[in-house]
Amino acid sequence: MAIVGAGAIADSHLAAYQAHCDDVDLVAVADVDEARALAFCATTDHAKPYPDLESLLVEQEPDLVSICTPPGLHVEQTKKVLDSGAWVWCEKPPCRSLAEYDDMISAEGDGGPYASFVYQQRSGSAAAHFRDLLARGELGRPLVAHCQTTWYRDAAYYSVPWRGRWATEGGGPAMGHGIHQMDLLLHLLAGETEWAEVQAMTARLVHDVETEDVSAALVRFESGALATVVNSVLSPDEVSRIRIDCERATVELTHLYGYVAENWRYTPAPRVAEIPTTPAEDVGSSHAAAFKPVLAAHRAGKRPPCSGRDGRRVLEFVASLYKAASTGQSVSRGEIRPGDPFYRDMAGAGVKAG
Ligand SMILES: NC(=O)c1ccc[n+]([C@@H]2O[C@H](COP(=O)([O-])OP(=O)(O)OC[C@H]3O[C@@H](n4cnc5c(N)ncnc54)[C@H](O)[C@@H]3O)[C@@H](O)[C@H]2O)c1
Repeated sequence: MAIVGAGAIADSHLAAYQAHCDDVDLVAVADVDEARALAFCATTDHAKPYPDLESLLVEQEPDLVSICTPPGLHVEQTKKVLDSGAWVWCEKPPCRSLAEYDDMISAEGDGGPYASFVYQQRSGSAAAHFRDLLARGELGRPLVAHCQTTWYRDAAYYSVPWRGRWATEGGGPAMGHGIHQMDLLLHLLAGETEWAEVQAMTARLVHDVETEDVSAALVRFESGALATVVNSVLSPDEVSRIRIDCERATVELTHLYGYVAENWRYTPAPRVAEIPTTPAEDVGSSHAAAFKPVLAAHRAGKRPPCSGRDGRRVLEFVASLYKAASTGQSVSRGEIRPGDPFYRDMAGAGVKAG
């Protein structure tokens, strides 16, 4: 294994490797900030620091590389790693646009190497349990959902130069923060239905940034179910929440950055017999849990979860949310294709300039 980008989130990748230490060995860390690479390597068994990804790939020939750099670098670095023959486990957001995503994964080979993306909120066993209950009909049809990522970030957070700008972060809280909860909502319902149409508004109310700091969206699913989605970085009482009213029960997940089974509450409808609400095993959502199937897929030479079309689902939803907010029109799934200004740029720069 190797890591590129020894900043804040790299620790979670190291913890994920350590949780699977019988199968993985971190051999190298690249960061343009030499002191950071050195300090990070000092916390590992024997990883060697590198000043850039290129020299690391040539000297170490890793099997899999974690990309933990700012979003504007993901496309170029993912392609370099795939071209070297190694697999990629890249931080969210995968990149800054659907065009970049399609370009990036065109560097995958048949049978690998593959690039998968870190949507760790899917990884808890309680999420798999919900999907299982839904597939078995225990919950009935999903009817209306609420998906909320209402967080708080201060001016110091936005003093990091790559944050809060379209060119380097790719968007505001809809892209950088709410992506986890929105990915989880879409993943929870994916066996049953896909989103079909979104309407949205964005605003910049507090922060001195280029992007929005709050967004609100209305979503219709193919099944007819409806959802509301709110993402913010100005909410003093922070919460991550998904609530889904199904025919036979309301299911509500309330947490902040990760959950265990007890964060999920099932309320059966009147006259519905008890629903088996607890997963057989309680594995919390985390980078370590998200890494497990990636590792298994690597060993089996199979496409990992959160890659290809599965990794693209939430990115298309975010692009559509931004297009809907910018144009004031409802946007359908599949509508943003090459040639659409929002395919190349989440801000749809062409539309704004015009
Ligand atoms: N999954 C999650 O819950 C989660 C949480 C926080 C951040 N993230 C994501 O992780 C990524 C990194 O975020 P962060 O908060 O760790 O950022 P950070 O700014 O703390 O760290 C980024 C690191 O990349 C290094 N870097 C910059 N350019 C480089 C280059 N060309 N080559 C090698 N290294 C380079 C920087 O020197 C820095 O050490 C972002 O995409 C962010 O959205 C994910």
